[in-house]
Amino acid sequence: MRIVSVVGARPQFVKLGAISRALAPARSVEHVIIHTGQHYDPDMSDSFFEELRIPHPDINLGIGSGSHGVQTGRMLEELDPLLNRIRPVWTLVYGDTNSTLAATLAAVKLDIQVAHLEAGLRSFNRAMPEEHNRVLSDHASDLLLAPTELAVQNLRMEGLGPRTVLVGDVMADVCYSTRDLIGQAELAHVRSDVGGDRYVLATIHRPSNTDDPHKLRQILRALRSLTVPVLLAVHPRLRSRAAEFGLSLEGGSVIPTSPLSYRSMVAAVMGAQGVVTDSGGLQKEAFLLGVPCTTVRAETEWVETLDGGWNILDPSAENLTELATRDKPEHQLNQPYGDGRAAERVFEVLSRGNGN
Ligand code: UD1
Repeated sequence: MRIVSVVGARPQFVKLGAISRALAPARSVEHVIIHTGQHYDPDMSDSFFEELRIPHPDINLGIGSGSHGVQTGRMLEELDPLLNRIRPVWTLVYGDTNSTLAATLAAVKLDIQVAHLEAGLRSFNRAMPEEHNRVLSDHASDLLLAPTELAVQNLRMEGLGPRTVLVGDVMADVCYSTRDLIGQAELAHVRSDVGGDRYVLATIHRPSNTDDPHKLRQILRALRSLTVPVLLAVHPRLRSRAAEFGLSLEGGSVIPTSPLSYRSMVAAVMGAQGVVTDSGGLQKEAFLLGVPCTTVRAETEWVETLDGGWNILDPSAENLTELATRDKPEHQLNQPYGDGRAAERVFEVLSRGNGN
């Protein structure tokens, strides 16, 4: 059985890590990896393939940056002849990026079956490009691989129940297996980088936070004023918007650093007192690793993380001083994201050929 995975952006490489590991031992599977090139800086892409031992992409489209429409359109144009030549049993698409939408459209228009991994997530915020990508990809896909019960319910509400299978969250697979590799020396290394045992880990990259100079200034001011060091892993969008608006990323408590590799990110979360982020993946990783998270957004797709106060929304970063270094909640963590074996279930479902 031939399966094509189409990926392009950082969080998708993590999910691909779990899938490629689950598919590798199966002799019956030919797994072809297409990288759209949406993310191209080595620390946004190559480091993930190396650390998670993902085979080099078979094809890299080298699309790069652009407006959403142009980026998606270029990918669609390149993917159409490629998928038509490869003719897989499944095109597997991941999450909510422009690469996901382009691959979904390319495959359905060629009458090639599409399986959408991480189907059914909703922020219900139609101003987010990711929300368009999720909804459109779910409705166009043949098989919806849902990570949580709530995602299944969302899909049922939209009439997509018959195409839905609950598999669990493949990001939990990778997060748990990476956590198990990290030793005290690695944690000590992060602490020595920030100069102490107590620190906050932060990332900010959503257009809603980076593209408005007032909002970005407010977030950076709040991070600078925290009473513990703040390790800020800087996404290229944050770096370029801050430069454009004349805002410095340094100063106060903030220690800016390049984007972290996956393993370094997991180690940095494990050692942190708290996480401040607008990333979907990092909110969930903080939850899986038992570290309190503050999310600089008005809503989250990963609503299970809010349970018991493990994750708290602070859309304007007004309350960061109290929230970022708060103690762990007493409420016990449950396991809404599965047992770390979701990718094996994905393989089983795909092996049935038509998802039934
Ligand atoms: C994309 C995804 C988002 C995901 C995020 C993870 C969409 C709509 N959004 O957002 O869901 O959370 O990836 O990072 O697909 N850039 C570089 N080097 C790179 C990559 C990007 O310099 O390797 C710059 C580009 O100038 C670009 C900006 O960063 O303008 C943003 O990149 P883009 O891929 O458009 O979206 P992300 O914000 O990364």
